[in-house]
Amino acid sequence: MPQQPVRIAPSILSADFAKLGEEVRAIDAAGADYIHIDVMDGHFVPNITIGPSVVKALRPHTDKPFDVHLMIAPVDPYIEAFAEAGADIITVHPESGPHLHRTVQKIKCLGKKAGVSLNPATPIEVLDYILPDLDLVLVMSVNPGFGGQSFIESQLEKIAKIRKRIDLLGKQIDLEVDGGITTGTIGDAVAAGADVLVAGTATFKGGPDMYAANIQALKDLGLKATGGSKA
Ligand code: DX5
Ligand code: ZN
Repeated sequence: MPQQPVRIAPSILSADFAKLGEEVRAIDAAGADYIHIDVMDGHFVPNITIGPSVVKALRPHTDKPFDVHLMIAPVDPYIEAFAEAGADIITVHPESGPHLHRTVQKIKCLGKKAGVSLNPATPIEVLDYILPDLDLVLVMSVNPGFGGQSFIESQLEKIAKIRKRIDLLGKQIDLEVDGGITTGTIGDAVAAGADVLVAGTATFKGGPDMYAANIQALKDLGLKATGGSKA
């Protein structure tokens, strides 16, 4: 399927963790399309964030899709817990378990949408025999582990190549880009073919009064990059 409308997935990694429920309600009201939840284990990536009990606690605060990005290894033993906690999309890294196909099937058997995430040095060939089974491909435009890093330009070529593969396949698969998305980089990512943009720092900067304007600024620039006019 061709590129879908530009959607913004604020990463709550940049939210105030002392009031996460409130923050999720605020980004929902501010126009977030997905709520991006970064799960880190201090093993697969050098940082520790949140687990299924936090996802479950946040679930009543919004009806927007929970886009759960698992940066944990092994990943398989925890998929069910995140599904039960209220994840809508569960995204895994191919390096986080021995059998990617089995992991993806497990997510789908639980009735959830399945995503695969590619680290900056992970080649697109990892998608060769799994793309038709996916609902989302996540291109990491920073090394996973932390918010606030700079966009790695080499990933633009990767985004464009994956865009072509999705178009050729003709299936509705989100092409999400994660890391370093700002008003300065979103245009290039969308022009390369991305249609879901994760934005942590760029959403939460300036505090709650700015969330709606921050999200709208990203959407406007994304739309402009697809050749559309202001939303
Ligand atoms: C990094 C995470 C990202 C990160 C994005 O490992 O997967 O979702 O929070 O943060 P920003 O938008 O600040 O680069
Ligand atoms: Zn993420």
